Amino acid sequence: MATIVGGLAVSHVPAIGNAIANHREGEPYWKPFFDGFPAARAWLDRVKPDLAVVLYNDHGLNFFLDKLPTFAVGAAPEYCNADEGWGLPVLAPFAGDRDLSWHIIEHLVAQEFDLTTCQEMLVDHAFCIPMELFWPQGAPPPAVPVAINTVQHPLPSPRRCFRLGQAIGRAIETYDKDLKVVVIATGGLSHQLEGERAGFINRDFDQMCLEALATDPSPLTALSSLDLVEQAGSQGVELLMWIAMRGAMTGQVSRVHQHYHIPISNTAAALLVLENTPVA
Ligand code: DHB
Ligand code: FE
Repeated sequence: MATIVGGLAVSHVPAIGNAIANHREGEPYWKPFFDGFPAARAWLDRVKPDLAVVLYNDHGLNFFLDKLPTFAVGAAPEYCNADEGWGLPVLAPFAGDRDLSWHIIEHLVAQEFDLTTCQEMLVDHAFCIPMELFWPQGAPPPAVPVAINTVQHPLPSPRRCFRLGQAIGRAIETYDKDLKVVVIATGGLSHQLEGERAGFINRDFDQMCLEALATDPSPLTALSSLDLVEQAGSQGVELLMWIAMRGAMTGQVSRVHQHYHIPISNTAAALLVLENTPVA
């Protein structure tokens, strides 16, 4: 059976991709952010996941306001990146794993999650930047992308996303291959890119979230998605992916590493590494 080795969660600001492309990681603006990553990479070197499930939100590259699924799961042999207009290089396609995709899809539908299944799926900066950050030498493991709508209201609730994560966790655990799987969440933490509160960051709320994700996520699942808008900003709702990732940690959870840096662009940039130890 497959095992869940742990969860990684990280912000996905496009400017990070630009800093990587232009080798600016050591500059004063960037160093405090990139200093968070060696510990996460060392953990990955230790646990050596074979596959990744990536919980992310599409920002209009693959889905647009005309058709926007609440939950979409990729079932493609590979996932192409494309130009979103951020000035980032278009990355080479990412390998998929259709067997794990269909296993997760079968399991989620049986658990009454009504999904969109995507046999073609473009992946945007929210998927690509974490892959670049965690596997800077290239060659990330094959991935199953899971897109959660954070763009078109009404959004799914934190509790619903947590339950989606729990169902993904159970699906991975019942996958009949002896493989190690890491669950990656991308987005957040607090940020708002538009309107009267543009530039809004809420350090206290972010710290509460990091603590809850590592210890007891129940304060987060008690919130509504509109509470998240209020507390974390209109794009801070990307916390939904972090909450879903925590749901997928089916075993005993321990915090391996945490990093928080304000701001990168308009965003409170954070990183969390959780290890999952299966319980018999
Ligand atoms: C920024 C943050 C995001 O989450 C995003 O998707 C795009 C831009 C930013 O802070 O610039
Ligand atoms: Fe975003």
